[in-house]
Amino acid sequence: MHAYNRTIGVVGGGTMGRGIVQLFAQAGHRVLCYDIAADAAQKAADFVIGLIRRSAEKGRITAAEAQASIGRIGVCEALSELAACDVVIEAVVEDLAVKIDLFRALENIMAESAILASNTSSLVISEIAAGCRRPERVAGLHFFNPVPLMKVAEVVPGARTSTATVESLGTLVAQAGHRAVVAADQPGFLVNHAGRGFYTEALRVLEEGVADVPEIDALLRAAAGFRMGPFELLDLTGLDVSGKVMTSIYEQFQHEPRFRPSSLVPPRIAAGLLGRKSGQGWYRYEGERKQEPVPLAAPPPRSGMRVWIDPAADEHAAIQGLARRSNAELCDAADGAELLIVQFWGQDATGYCVEHGLDARRCVAVDPLPGLSRHRTLMLTPVIMPETRDAAVALLAGDGAPVTVINDSPGFVVQRVLATIVNIAANIAQRGIASVLDIEDAVKLGLGYPHGPLAWGDRIGGSRVLAILQKIRARTGDPRYRPSPWLSRRAELGISLLTPDVARRP
Ligand SMILES: NC(=O)c1ccc[n+]([C@@H]2O[C@H](COP(=O)([O-])OP(=O)(O)OC[C@H]3O[C@@H](n4cnc5c(N)ncnc54)[C@H](O)[C@@H]3O)[C@@H](O)[C@H]2O)c1
Repeated sequence: MHAYNRTIGVVGGGTMGRGIVQLFAQAGHRVLCYDIAADAAQKAADFVIGLIRRSAEKGRITAAEAQASIGRIGVCEALSELAACDVVIEAVVEDLAVKIDLFRALENIMAESAILASNTSSLVISEIAAGCRRPERVAGLHFFNPVPLMKVAEVVPGARTSTATVESLGTLVAQAGHRAVVAADQPGFLVNHAGRGFYTEALRVLEEGVADVPEIDALLRAAAGFRMGPFELLDLTGLDVSGKVMTSIYEQFQHEPRFRPSSLVPPRIAAGLLGRKSGQGWYRYEGERKQEPVPLAAPPPRSGMRVWIDPAADEHAAIQGLARRSNAELCDAADGAELLIVQFWGQDATGYCVEHGLDARRCVAVDPLPGLSRHRTLMLTPVIMPETRDAAVALLAGDGAPVTVINDSPGFVVQRVLATIVNIAANIAQRGIASVLDIEDAVKLGLGYPHGPLAWGDRIGGSRVLAILQKIRARTGDPRYRPSPWLSRRAELGISLLTPDVARRP
């Protein structure tokens, strides 16, 4: 069977079904759409045809290409009309019983060689396949919304799926121009599993009163390079939808602490603070527009202040430059100084002061990640003197750069969120849920992160990420921060986190 010009059935003409129809029709396949609701398949086809026509009007494709793609789309009145399909992809309601019944019915009408794929996000593929006589031809084929633009799909073999089925689906996806990654039949597969750290750690930071919602979002955008902050993303997806995913992945992973959902979420769902769709979530919305908080002006600088900068600070020279700029008097010893500035990885300001015998009332910490030239985060101890805090903000903002002030937190905000993301990705690799290359590509394409998580860990430094996690764990006692053995071993050996294990057999 040639990979091109196959006949592909799509069951379910909703959000995902429509995207899948468009993708494969434009990739040169005959695509037949069926939906149980009257007229739904026709509406889906009309919708896709409209998109393809607009694409031609905008000059993205030629009129001839559009016409050919449109000509490949067909609508079925009955499931039995899918009998001649080589592959059927279901994108019906997320309900195990419905999907099992559907696959059973499909198996009775389709050829022995046909493949049955499910676009489920959260169900176990092996459970869907268990209802089939030939589970070896059943697999997950998980696309992301909007399908034509999100250029990655997860191929998920169930426990009995054949290698030929996986390879066939991988080829189909690749020839449609998407990156096919293979993910084990485990909760969240690859992308939704790797994406857990961003939300859960941001919620943890919020729970601990480290910073408020706009500050956490702004930090993760400006300092870490995420396109959207975690709370902005939760508002976009809808907290009811994301909340269910958080709980379901935690339950399916047998209460793994790394995925523990936040108690901040259920009351907000009950109150209807769902996000953009309900007009208010973590932010308020006027139509499509998000109401932005008004930034606070930096306090006025204080000339002649006696400042000590920890010689161990990563950016000692740059902080000295800022201090000179605001006419501070630089001190050689912490004792006589009015303001102490320190920098470190993984600890909190209080812990650092106590360990180094520094006065916590006069001490502030500056996050060395991502570096002063990109963003400045100032962390306070619980006993900082207000005038010292103000003087520190003024000094750091002396050249007009924005400064985010946070409360005491092991690993600031960006260090702990990134270390969590790297750790979860490392554990995905450790468990063999996906290959290193697939993890990296799927996270960039499916989650839009600026770097793959393991390469990101390498940029920060594997041993540094390990130290951050160990210190957060020591401070909080929370096992969610326990480092994955994949990360610990590579950090200890001083090798890249992208290094796969050597095959056990030659
Ligand atoms: N929406 C997303 O962002 C997204 C992303 C990835 C995966 N998914 C998964 O894709 C699947 C579909 O999601 P969606 O958002 O497109 O849903 P949707 O509600 O937009 O569409 C589902 C369609 O399936 C039809 N349907 C229901 N039962 C059927 C049956 N037995 N036979 C035929 N048609 C039936 C419905 O009439 C409806 O048109 C779900 O499994 C979902 O978890 C969704």
